[in-house]
Amino acid sequence: MLALNIRFSHGSDAIFMGVRSLLCAVLVMAPTTSGAGEPRHVVGLADGREGYDNASFATRSKAIIESSGERLSLQQLSQGASLGLPPLTVSLRSAEVDLGRKLFFDRRLSANETLSCGLCHIPEQGFTQNELATPVGNEGKGVRRNAPSLYNVVFARHLFWDGREASLEDQVWSPLLALNEMANPSRKAVIERLRQHGAYSDEFSLVYEQGLTQATFASALAAYQQSLVAGSSRFDHWYFPEANPANQHPSILLSEEARRGFDVYQRSGCGSCHTLAEKYALFTDGQFHNTGVAYHSAVRGIKLEVVQVAPGLFIEPTVEVETETFVDNGRAEVTRRQQDHWRYRTPTLRNVAITAPYMHDGSFRTLSEVLDYYEQGGSGDPHQDPRIQPFVLTAAERLQLLAFLHSLTSDGVDALVADARSVPIGERGTDG
Ligand code: HEC
Ligand code: HEC
Repeated sequence: MLALNIRFSHGSDAIFMGVRSLLCAVLVMAPTTSGAGEPRHVVGLADGREGYDNASFATRSKAIIESSGERLSLQQLSQGASLGLPPLTVSLRSAEVDLGRKLFFDRRLSANETLSCGLCHIPEQGFTQNELATPVGNEGKGVRRNAPSLYNVVFARHLFWDGREASLEDQVWSPLLALNEMANPSRKAVIERLRQHGAYSDEFSLVYEQGLTQATFASALAAYQQSLVAGSSRFDHWYFPEANPANQHPSILLSEEARRGFDVYQRSGCGSCHTLAEKYALFTDGQFHNTGVAYHSAVRGIKLEVVQVAPGLFIEPTVEVETETFVDNGRAEVTRRQQDHWRYRTPTLRNVAITAPYMHDGSFRTLSEVLDYYEQGGSGDPHQDPRIQPFVLTAAERLQLLAFLHSLTSDGVDALVADARSVPIGERGTDG
């Protein structure tokens, strides 16, 4: 049944990843309890595939092995890991964040009550899905783009890869209503369903004067996402020393390799789009560019092969090629301007080491593949941004650049994962 519903957009890797993650998602839905003394979450550990062909395979996926969560205070949430980031312009309220967190992991937000926001934006997987090029939504329907990480989304001027939304409050209705995501018939239906579960109405009334409405619902979900602030990386401790009196602590010093990697980064022109400002660095200019990735994916051939879906279980996927669903014109879909065809929003590079796969269509699985792509000068799309040009890195420089990219992971991510899991996996609310 799983296999029949798989749609694909770009080759066998995507199918493989899709089937694997479906399994993962199914398992995630069954809440498990963890024993005392369970180690804390380590992020970026989606299940590897080592040993997958062995019948005694046991998962290492942190998304499946639940461990007990630990709620952060509002102060820790909004200021804990903010080194290197612009000042927060929103003021968060603890009660709103709590309500938003609960909604984010509640599967009753989808029409058939199976899919929560947190199943496509998985905390242990960088608030994206590491194993999946593009996610699987309602009843196994494919989604055409890679789920972006939600870390630091509070700083994004434009939301989505094509920038079609400007506020989290508006954005939220998009996954809720999309037929291939949460498939709700209307905004009203979402609110009605939540009203049927008494607890929410009461909780909203305590937090908002207006009680549970479309606006307060969207605002609670936005508040939780705005709390996912994840700066304070090793790089920040080194690059913004004046903001950080503790920068001499050996555990937060940036390695020589990563420092050299930052030079390579600058020399290779990466910083012209993934920008740094004087007092903070978002590693994005917030603009839309054609890096040739869509062209690259479009010209790649699609081939099918047998897929292993579980230890000892192989299937030959019956795949329906959905040409229409996967037409993706990028920013041009918003502006209707020809020059914006296949332009996508520059993603931040913060936490990039834990937010694979990469690009709007998830077409690169590793940072190494991304570097290969840039080194070869993109894809040869005639409309590609002229700044994407071939260059050569020595083996040492490549490792340095990778070390730099890895140094951009926030030291607050484990705490945010534990905070997310202070709501049980597969939350269906306390009253039902
Ligand atoms: C079926 C998987 C899926 C579900 C469920 C889902 N999302 Fe997403 N989300 C995505 C994908 C894919 C994108 C990128 C879509 C695009 O750019 O066109 C995205 C984009 C976003 C963005 C924009 C981030 C950015 O940097 O631009 C936000 C915010 C977001 N989702 C929040 C949510 C919330 C809140 C929910 C629950 C109400 C939710 N998502 C449910 C897959 C999902
Ligand atoms: C012309 C602007 C531009 C330049 C120069 C540029 N990038 Fe990008 N980068 C982008 C855009 C736009 C995307 C998203 C493309 C897409 O999804 O189709 C991207 C995607 C990425 C990603 C994937 C991030 C993710 O979350 O999916 C990484 C990693 C990356 N770039 C690193 C680099 C490095 C390293 C360099 C220098 C060698 C570089 N970029 C140069 C604009 C640029």
